[in-house]
Amino acid sequence: MNFDIDPRTVDDILARVAAAENIATLDVIRVSELGKSGRITTIARMIGTIPPEQRRHFGANINQIKNRIEEAILARRELLKGEKLSNLPASETIDVTLPLRDAPAEAGRIHPLSQVMDELTAIFADMGFAVAEGPDIETDDYNFTKLNFPEGHPAREMHDTFFFNPKEDGSRKLLRTHTSPVQVRTMLTQKPPIRIICPGRTYRIDSDATHTPQFHQVEGLVIDKNSHLGHLKWILHEFCKAFFEVDHINMRFRPSFFPFTEPSLEVDIQCRRDKGEIRFGEGEDWLEILGCGMVHPNVLRACGIDPDVYQGFAWGMGIDRIAMLKYGMPDLRQLFESDVRWLSHYGFKPLDVPTLAGGLSS
Ligand code: DAH
Repeated sequence: MNFDIDPRTVDDILARVAAAENIATLDVIRVSELGKSGRITTIARMIGTIPPEQRRHFGANINQIKNRIEEAILARRELLKGEKLSNLPASETIDVTLPLRDAPAEAGRIHPLSQVMDELTAIFADMGFAVAEGPDIETDDYNFTKLNFPEGHPAREMHDTFFFNPKEDGSRKLLRTHTSPVQVRTMLTQKPPIRIICPGRTYRIDSDATHTPQFHQVEGLVIDKNSHLGHLKWILHEFCKAFFEVDHINMRFRPSFFPFTEPSLEVDIQCRRDKGEIRFGEGEDWLEILGCGMVHPNVLRACGIDPDVYQGFAWGMGIDRIAMLKYGMPDLRQLFESDVRWLSHYGFKPLDVPTLAGGLSS
């Protein structure tokens, strides 16, 4: 008896393989012929029922058929794969000659205010100042009373304050109107000598071309046994030269009034406005940049420091103001508008961290 598979069956399978139009069809053929219960596999299993003298021939024959089908499927599969690639739509191909797009770290920008805060922190850190912080939501006590603004004192009215609703006991919190409450927080928790700066957000009910309801200040505080105005003047002078990156700067100290300092001074820097640019150290104009003074004995006392042993000085400077001056930004409000076109013009590359050694703004 002849147990061989009909060659027409094999030809038929090979013809179907050759005609398969995609890999899924190929898989169907493979499973239905060579899979576990496929046609050829089922025939191959009959080997046990075949007379022993014919088994060898049967086995060799069926293996050869299996191999032919497998090879045909494999070859067809490779062909189809190649065709699939060459038929890709143009949108799925990559033009390796196109220029590279900027990496995210290159495309993003640091806001000029963040840059200026980093710059001034680098300068004061170099002089030995530590950075102190306090909350934006303050108590009336820290924002005013401990800074020698007595209840009902008119100076409180000068600080157009955002108050929260009063609590049951009548006390009410506020959005700090200046960074000076951080002086109080520092003196209450640290023993002199104290040397801190505090850059941060401040708030006042005020909005026009030169005022925004939220703005930024940097506070400075030095408390020691014999710190005096000479030290303060030197620090501010060195700061301005380093910050504005000039060798020479003229400063003017004018008498002023703040409840928390005695004497109190305001500081102007000399400048010349030249075709929209500002030059420092020359010219006829004076620009006010900060308030300062010797810390009032009442403030020291309110913070548990003996004014007969310790004395010191403090200052508060508007960061938005000095940022606009240094980088020639004409309108304060743009600092807060989050306009990405403005930011890509005035912003700084995130990996160019300002340092004194490497250059502040280069
Ligand atoms: N806190 C003041 C303000 O916002 C600025 C100021 C003046 C701060 C004198 C000081 C200082 O520390 O000594 O107007």
